[in-house]
Amino acid sequence: MLNLPLPRLDKNPELRNCLLKYARLKAGEVWDDPLGTHRIGCLDAASATDIAKLMSGKKAVLAIHDPPYNLVAFEERELREFIAWCKQWIATTDDALAASSSLYVWLGADQRSGFQPLPDFMLMMRGTPFQTRSFITMRNQRGYGTSKNWMAVRQELLYYIKGEPVFNVEAEYTDIPKILRGYYKEVNGRVTENFERSKSENIRAGNVWVDIQQVFYRMGENVNGCYAQKPLKSAERIIRASSNEGDLVIDFFCHSASTLLAAEMNERRCYTSDNDPVYCEIAIRRLERLRETGKTGWQNGNPFEEEILADAELKALVGEIPAVVQDNQLSLI
Ligand SMILES: C[S@@+](CC[C@H](N)C(=O)[O-])C[C@H]1O[C@@H](n2cnc3c(N)ncnc32)[C@H](O)[C@@H]1O
Repeated sequence: MLNLPLPRLDKNPELRNCLLKYARLKAGEVWDDPLGTHRIGCLDAASATDIAKLMSGKKAVLAIHDPPYNLVAFEERELREFIAWCKQWIATTDDALAASSSLYVWLGADQRSGFQPLPDFMLMMRGTPFQTRSFITMRNQRGYGTSKNWMAVRQELLYYIKGEPVFNVEAEYTDIPKILRGYYKEVNGRVTENFERSKSENIRAGNVWVDIQQVFYRMGENVNGCYAQKPLKSAERIIRASSNEGDLVIDFFCHSASTLLAAEMNERRCYTSDNDPVYCEIAIRRLERLRETGKTGWQNGNPFEEEILADAELKALVGEIPAVVQDNQLSLI
């Protein structure tokens, strides 16, 4: 097996530019799945015209969005601009969603800068048709900033709804009770432990997720080159709880295509987009690889390994850059 990691593309613009020639999509174009299930667009999440093109008249029951939130040292005016931009892609999402639907948004809170943009985003959302439903926290394994502060390990996930969307509690068994052992409770006159009860029909997933492994380079689902990959398990949990088989799911910030893969693995359809043709290409290749090999990522290789071996310019660029293990959002906040 190849051991060919691809350095983070956001930190290596020359490498990213060199990969552009291998991208099937240009800005404004949409890839139609030959099996007729999914669509991937090279589109701007904030553009009503672009998103109308992606949706082609269809409505989704679930949106999972993970916008960039790298706002280090943003001035107040820039934060306002960021929120104004969020308002635009929330409007395109509203249009793309059915009257009864769910919206999940991953967002960061910069503890060195007034916890922005999380509270500002929450306030902006009060002026939209979406109602608040839950405030989920996912725990990362690796953190940062431990020398003079609590180690930052949380990822925030906001859950909103419109109308009366599906919520499949019964379909959602979690591994949380395996981790939080030792909580005893009497059930039908018998004292039971957490783990035993996790198999009960009525177990409810809480809104603190401590059982999801953060993606790192040794995992099969790892996509080298990506810098903000969410674990498949988190996308699958959301999809199973908030949609049914055959339903349409959307994600306007596709990147490594976690939502798309989770949709494919759970018999949902996914319309997804990213404004960067290189990530759109990665998304297409990740879906094709899953279908051809059953593999969910490139643990020991990368999406462009064949091109790197054949293209001297690309090979030289990859060789020059030390392959930094991806950090998934940590370095962004
Ligand atoms: C945080 S990443 C999403 C990670 C994704 N959830 C995953 O698991 O791989 C954000 C992505 O949004 C894309 N993006 C940034 N601005 C955008 C815009 N205006 N429209 C569409 N995509 C955009 C970036 O290229 C990046 O790939």
